[in-house]
Amino acid sequence: MKSRKIVIAAVVVSMFAAAAFAHGGAKGIVKERMDGMSALGKTVKALAPMMRGEGRYDAETVRQGAEVIRSHAGSSLTKLFPIGSGGMPSEAKDTVWQDWEGFTALSERLHLYAEGLALSADNGLMMAPEATANTGTMMGGNSAMMGGSAPMMSDALGLEELAEMPVDGVFAMVSQTCSACHTKFRAEAK
Ligand code: HEC
Repeated sequence: MKSRKIVIAAVVVSMFAAAAFAHGGAKGIVKERMDGMSALGKTVKALAPMMRGEGRYDAETVRQGAEVIRSHAGSSLTKLFPIGSGGMPSEAKDTVWQDWEGFTALSERLHLYAEGLALSADNGLMMAPEATANTGTMMGGNSAMMGGSAPMMSDALGLEELAEMPVDGVFAMVSQTCSACHTKFRAEAK
């Protein structure tokens, strides 16, 4: 739980530090994908405090955010990266086109996890105040869930499993997918 919070915080901070520099001079499709990514960044940033248990949890807000993420993921994301659209001022690395399969897979994974996020919205947080205040059975169920979330980074999870997870678990997987793709395919913003 603790490390997950740190992961989310780190992802959010690094994305925003970078976004502040990026737009200079971008036009056309490069501008379009940067705007799409900014929308993703804003959404993740807006949901993050709720996922940490700050403020009132609202499933509808999560579903709306999930829809924004879904609409910018999958082929909607990859179609904004035509061959030859790298280079300044883009931060996309050449690896995007060298490993197009890997890039596409991460974009599809984001799409899947965004769908999962919407489906898990009504499950609430793993550490929801009501859950902690509840009986031992509830806690037992939750810690089993925690054990079950070990394959966090695996591709094995399908929509059905995601739909059963606590929403913050799925949100962590969404954020990890952002960072996984950035690590591999986006140049460090200077
Ligand atoms: C499939 C790969 C991939 C995924 C998944 C992905 N990104 Fe990105 N992201 C990129 C690439 C590549 C760039 C650099 C684009 C460019 O500069 O041309 C980028 C750039 C950004 C930027 C900087 C935009 C700007 O103004 O220059 C932000 C913010 C961002 N991503 C946020 C996110 C968030 C939040 C998520 C997850 C919800 C996410 N990204 C998921 C590949 C990805």
